[in-house]
Amino acid sequence: MSIVYTGIDELVTNDPSSGDGSPLGIVADGAIVVDAGRIAWLGPRTKAPDADDRVDLGGGSVIPGFVDSHAHLVFAGDRAAEFAARMAGEPYDGGGIATTVAATRSAGDAQLAANVARLAGELRRGGVTTFETKSGYGLSTRDEVRSLRIAAEFTSETTFLGAHVVPAEYRDNRDGYVRLVAGDMLAACRAHARWIDVFCEHSAFDADETRVILEAGRAAGLTPRLHAGQLGPGDGIRLGVELGAASIDHCTYATDSDIEALASARGTTVATLLPGAEFSTRASYPDARRFIDAGVTVALATDCNPGSSYTTSMAFCIAVAVRDMRFTPAEALWAATAGGAAALRRADVGMLSVGKRADFVRLDAPSYVHLAYRPGVPLISQVVTG
Ligand code: NIG
Ligand code: FE
Repeated sequence: MSIVYTGIDELVTNDPSSGDGSPLGIVADGAIVVDAGRIAWLGPRTKAPDADDRVDLGGGSVIPGFVDSHAHLVFAGDRAAEFAARMAGEPYDGGGIATTVAATRSAGDAQLAANVARLAGELRRGGVTTFETKSGYGLSTRDEVRSLRIAAEFTSETTFLGAHVVPAEYRDNRDGYVRLVAGDMLAACRAHARWIDVFCEHSAFDADETRVILEAGRAAGLTPRLHAGQLGPGDGIRLGVELGAASIDHCTYATDSDIEALASARGTTVATLLPGAEFSTRASYPDARRFIDAGVTVALATDCNPGSSYTTSMAFCIAVAVRDMRFTPAEALWAATAGGAAALRRADVGMLSVGKRADFVRLDAPSYVHLAYRPGVPLISQVVTG
């Protein structure tokens, strides 16, 4: 059964061949025809074909559903006390990950699944129609496998992050843990994951360890993505580019040569910026102009996790990205939709055009610009998936 949606004052498509010809492809007074979960037609309302059913959205704007390409939703407990201590001056170094690992290991499957369901519900109500989520708070073969099994109940975009940090029981045997992650743990997890990720950082895994793990993941059929350059500069970003990672995430401390490497990898590797992490760790924001002006493909994601960024709100991330990372509102909207799709190598989402998934969001606002212009205001009024 086909449905025609009208009453759209501003329709953002991300298809430059639509509407005003800008990168956001904005159609004024638009309409969308949906059939069998896909977009069958899109354009000005006055030219819309007829359909079996009609829905008048009553004005406002419509944007593609957000694509959150970086989240850590499988965990138990929270770290509000750690956050409060940080806001009183304590630094963030990832040391609190161990607290969440302990809570996650002692939680039952049902409790972990309920936590993912709760956060997935928040994401959806916030306009996210596709999301990725990682393991990484289990750090034993049993707990990483069950984390991914639970994640896969909610999304096909699952990422094996056994290399989040070295767990306490391997403190004196780092090599043994790297061998476990790249060996038996990967073998047990690969069937439940599409991606493999490493936290490549001074306090987690160095570039040599990262290479061993990502190469093993690739050989096992997983595609690399990477946490790098969050807490300090290092070799991670260039290594990720060399290994063909789909996305390198954080990039807070990207050097000029890192940005050159990312720009040369356009079409293969996306830089995913995570404003919630700088916000919640009171770190300096990366300057998006350096990336965008150099030609790097940039995504924005929530990094939702209980330590460094406990938000599911892409609207919040857009507002911070515009205010503090020097994105324009148009660039931020694109990064949170089409950019996320590129980071997940998904051609079916992140854009509204014929044949794409009918995933879109109505904003109770005349323009998408209001996402940044009206921070903290609940503008997402309707979410359509498929
Ligand atoms: O992406 N950086 C590593 N992992 C998470 C934080 C994990 C935590 O503090 O629990 C991140 O920011
Ligand atoms: Fe992360």
